[in-house]
Amino acid sequence: MTKTAPLIDPFARAISYLRVSVTDRCDFRCVYCMSENMTFLPKADLLTLEELDRMCSTFIRMGVEKLRITGGEPLVRKGIMTFFRGMSRHLESGALKELTLTTNGSQLAKYAAELVDCGVRRINVSLDTLDDKKFADITRWGRLPQVLNGIAAAKAAGLRVKINAVALKGFNEDEQFSLTDWCAREGHDLTWIEVMPMGDLGNEDRLDQYWSLKDLRARYADRFSVTDLSERSGGPARYVRLEETGQKIGFITPLTHNFCESCNRVRLTCTGELYMCLGQEDMADLRAPLRASTEDGALETAIRAAISHKPKGHDFDYTRTGATGQMTRHMSHTGG
Ligand code: 5AD
Ligand code: SF4
Repeated sequence: MTKTAPLIDPFARAISYLRVSVTDRCDFRCVYCMSENMTFLPKADLLTLEELDRMCSTFIRMGVEKLRITGGEPLVRKGIMTFFRGMSRHLESGALKELTLTTNGSQLAKYAAELVDCGVRRINVSLDTLDDKKFADITRWGRLPQVLNGIAAAKAAGLRVKINAVALKGFNEDEQFSLTDWCAREGHDLTWIEVMPMGDLGNEDRLDQYWSLKDLRARYADRFSVTDLSERSGGPARYVRLEETGQKIGFITPLTHNFCESCNRVRLTCTGELYMCLGQEDMADLRAPLRASTEDGALETAIRAAISHKPKGHDFDYTRTGATGQMTRHMSHTGG
């Protein structure tokens, strides 16, 4: 594969990280992510597995070195292992440095070993609570034991697991330390995510649920010696170390920190729309140029044009009067 010139945006940021949503469907209905009666996209709108491969391979040729597969729940997409298998050829060639996924864990017992075989080394699992009842409430359709089994299977298969927990006031505030201790015992990393104004729960609910990560950090500091770490993963997470346990805890605070200046990523939806920024509506349709020709020239041109108007940053802001810069699309559409 011959590489093209790298993708550089107007703010001199090199785009090396692509997040790809492979389905808008999910076997859960988390309250902060989906409504209870979601209508999903018609199958014909979705990129086929072959199209996903062509799309990702083109981005890799253009300098993408890290691929994160998301959804919806990526592992409920039929035939998804064919896609992972296909991407593993780019790991073998060295063009792709990392292939990873974000999952709700429900299908991991089935797929963990195969993911490892395809070259996946690390995964993010979304898990907000270790309480059966609360888990059933927040995910509406999910069952905790299935997810814990999945996580155990991932660990047994040799995958590094990072737990992503959405910090929700009045929901998992009381589990900050039990989740932290569980992760320490199991050897999982832990990152807290501030709830973002996505989906259609409405401003009032979302503001009620808002639990500042500043407060979480302060609570850690009451119990541990907390050291701020300067390292960044190229993404929005900031890290601290709890000296007593040696644990590294991540915080993703899209609303209180500006991480946009180091943004290296773009997001592809399952219908082939490229979102240049999670917090902006601006997107480019890549499915049309992909389907227009079996050659990749038009697709490459469309990708370059899209990157040339990647915005400087997002406009999210929680103010005392309400959320501004609020997004109307669901997280399951752009894939976190
Ligand atoms: N705010 C913050 N995180 C969210 N996620 C989904 N919806 C929201 C939201 N409104 C998270 C999930 C998962 C990832 C895919 O996105 O919990 O970790
Ligand atoms: Fe599914 Fe993840 Fe959304 Fe929950 S947050 S409904 S698990 S995609």
